[in-house]
Amino acid sequence: MHITVVGIGYVGLITAVGLAILGHTVHGVDIDAQKIADLLNGHCPLYEKNVQKKINYLYAKKLLHFGTHYRRNDRIFFLTVGTPASQDGTIDLTPLYAAIDSLIAFVPNGALFLIKSTVPVGTSRKIVHYLKEKNVCHAVISNPEFLREGNALYDFLNPDRIVIGADNIHCTAILTKLYQPLLNKKIPFLLTDPTTAELIKQASNAFLANKIALLNELSDLCVQTKADLGALSLGIGLDKRIGEAYLKGGPGFGGSCLPKDIRSLNRSFHQYGIASHILPAVIAANNYRFAYIVNRITAILGGIKNKIIALYGLTFKADTDDTRGSPSLSIIELLLAQKAIIHGYDPKTKYDLLTYNEKGSIKFFNNPEETLCEAEALIIATEWDIFQNIDFEKIKTKGMLKSNIIIDLRNILNKDLLQQKGFSYYCLGRDI
Ligand code: UGA
Repeated sequence: MHITVVGIGYVGLITAVGLAILGHTVHGVDIDAQKIADLLNGHCPLYEKNVQKKINYLYAKKLLHFGTHYRRNDRIFFLTVGTPASQDGTIDLTPLYAAIDSLIAFVPNGALFLIKSTVPVGTSRKIVHYLKEKNVCHAVISNPEFLREGNALYDFLNPDRIVIGADNIHCTAILTKLYQPLLNKKIPFLLTDPTTAELIKQASNAFLANKIALLNELSDLCVQTKADLGALSLGIGLDKRIGEAYLKGGPGFGGSCLPKDIRSLNRSFHQYGIASHILPAVIAANNYRFAYIVNRITAILGGIKNKIIALYGLTFKADTDDTRGSPSLSIIELLLAQKAIIHGYDPKTKYDLLTYNEKGSIKFFNNPEETLCEAEALIIATEWDIFQNIDFEKIKTKGMLKSNIIIDLRNILNKDLLQQKGFSYYCLGRDI
């Protein structure tokens, strides 16, 4: 099938590559000419395992194309443009409506608009009204994505479910054909109305956020009661009704999705005249977490003013170069506010995208060992595998870390080994 993906951001690029892998001929369109030029020159705009290789392969096979214009005969359009949120959860749908406007100006009646951008509940049906007002007739379908950054292509090709929200039953035949290779793998295909599909998307992220926030609170109770956080997560997760995923303690959930979707969902409650009591509590618990962690760091170091603190991991989690909504950055800002001096390191972040004008003293390094120079303590803020392979023996013998304090916010290092080497090792659920 011939498919156009509109908006080549994270979701758009993965969707385009994924659909091409399923055997469709995919045209990725973006208004950002530079982004398209980069893609055509073989530079993937994001860091995601295997994606560059796949793009090269699919491009050579002529299954994947990129451009700034639509193709005359295409009728199936995935809309994957960004839907930025303000602090109160209001979603800016301007880019989505701009994409729709550009499509209705170009495509004759009868096209399929598949909304993959995450939108507030009720948006697809509003789009249907909008099209009616414009006297055009296209089918609008909600087809939310459940792609984790860092595993996005895997998630596209091995989803837990495909959710289709369609008022027009005739469209489902086309969608069944479109996703046939996945349906052959017996992936559940949930057909519902557009509003429910939109709600499934945001509610799924809200559930994940909920799970993480509650586990993090329990982690604080572990510190006080000397219960074992690792065993607690395992013990809860082995209950099949709860499941073991998203029970890892950490510095709080971040990224461009969980925090945004939970705020947006909370706003939908307000807009429909009812209140969620749980969502605001989850938002507050997660925000509180950053301050709590900084207080603990301050206590461990006996004050942080003018002390150099090395911090490994700036992205919101491992295996991505994305720093949007990163807990590391929230923690850094709070440390800077207390006049700590930060030495930051990350294996993938593009440091030039991080702006800290006037916020304090911060320096980024390209090498984990150099980052430690003169530092009092090392904070591990994301769970990159390479942090487990750091030569702590060398760091200790060469006296690279002044106070030999390691604070592990992801519990990825080996406590016994580090203590044997003479480090003071602090981790979540035990000391923090
Ligand atoms: C999330 C969802 O997992 C996807 O299903 C969804 O499609 C996507 O948002 C989206 O809406 O587009 P993502 O933002 O990539 O994906 O991030 P996650 O892997 O879900 O992690 C979110 C945050 O939770 C990260 O900060 C992570 O470190 C944290 N986390 C995750 C924990 O603190 N503990 C855990 O056990 C799991």
